[in-house]
Amino acid sequence: MATVYLNGKFTALEDASISVLDRGFLFGDGIYEVIPVYAGTPFRFEHHLDRLKNSLREIKIEDPLTAKQWLELTTELIDKNSPESGYQESDQSIYLQITRGVAPRDHIFPIQIKPTIFMMSTPLIGSPAEVICNGISAITEVDSRWSRCNIKSINLLANVLHRQSAIEQDAKEAILIKDGVVTEGAASNLFIVKDGTLITPPQSAYLLPGVTRDLVLELARKENIMADESEIKRELLTAADEIFVTSSTKEIVPVTKLNGNLVGDGSVGTVTKKLHLTLQTFKQNLRRE
Ligand code: PDD
Repeated sequence: MATVYLNGKFTALEDASISVLDRGFLFGDGIYEVIPVYAGTPFRFEHHLDRLKNSLREIKIEDPLTAKQWLELTTELIDKNSPESGYQESDQSIYLQITRGVAPRDHIFPIQIKPTIFMMSTPLIGSPAEVICNGISAITEVDSRWSRCNIKSINLLANVLHRQSAIEQDAKEAILIKDGVVTEGAASNLFIVKDGTLITPPQSAYLLPGVTRDLVLELARKENIMADESEIKRELLTAADEIFVTSSTKEIVPVTKLNGNLVGDGSVGTVTKKLHLTLQTFKQNLRRE
């Protein structure tokens, strides 16, 4: 049985419950993180913690714990869900959510309430070999989200609707376009390759500063792949030689079909393949440290 953390206590998932007056439930008044765990070690933990702190700052919730406490808590949750604990065999994905807390329903921030802290671990499945070898289909949609997408808010209704729309059109991801310019995927960041140069949209209020995105840029520079953070207009997206999307749970996912048309020659491109391999080596080396 999975063990979760809720407000100071570790408990079985089935026994964890929160009040219906929690502002996360009533208003979506909270933020979250998803942290991959490989061989028991949280991957890029400091980067996830930095983003968590930034999200909290943006929505004016005081960080309830120190960096050391967050790491201790995360490590304890990982251990309680590890193969040794008899529960989980695979790598893990830690979901961490903080809401403003429980109070009578009122839009105004309540005074002196304690934030709700919830953490759970699920097996990290990653992308199947089929996806890595052949890529996925994606569609484009007009980005219907708000203008503070740099906050990792638990308000994911627009993202959910975009992803569902992709699924209903036999695709796996929706690539979002705001005023003719690509922002990101419904639950991923986006990269293209054009004439050998890797391009991803610059950080802004219209996209999440992805931890995997930053790592891919770092790895590209190490591998001497030319990399640019610049605007991608719709026309450039459709003329791309390669497209891929990134996230902590799926890593690098090639997009080989866009709106029913082949991307490049329809196979996974050389830059995408190289970055995928480089990321795998980077992870393996961390496991050995
Ligand atoms: N989502 N953009 C959006 C809108 C996302 O939801 C995600 C990831 C990313 C990629 O960020 P990162 O590389 O830090 O995972 C970009 C997570 C995995 C989720 O909601 O489950």
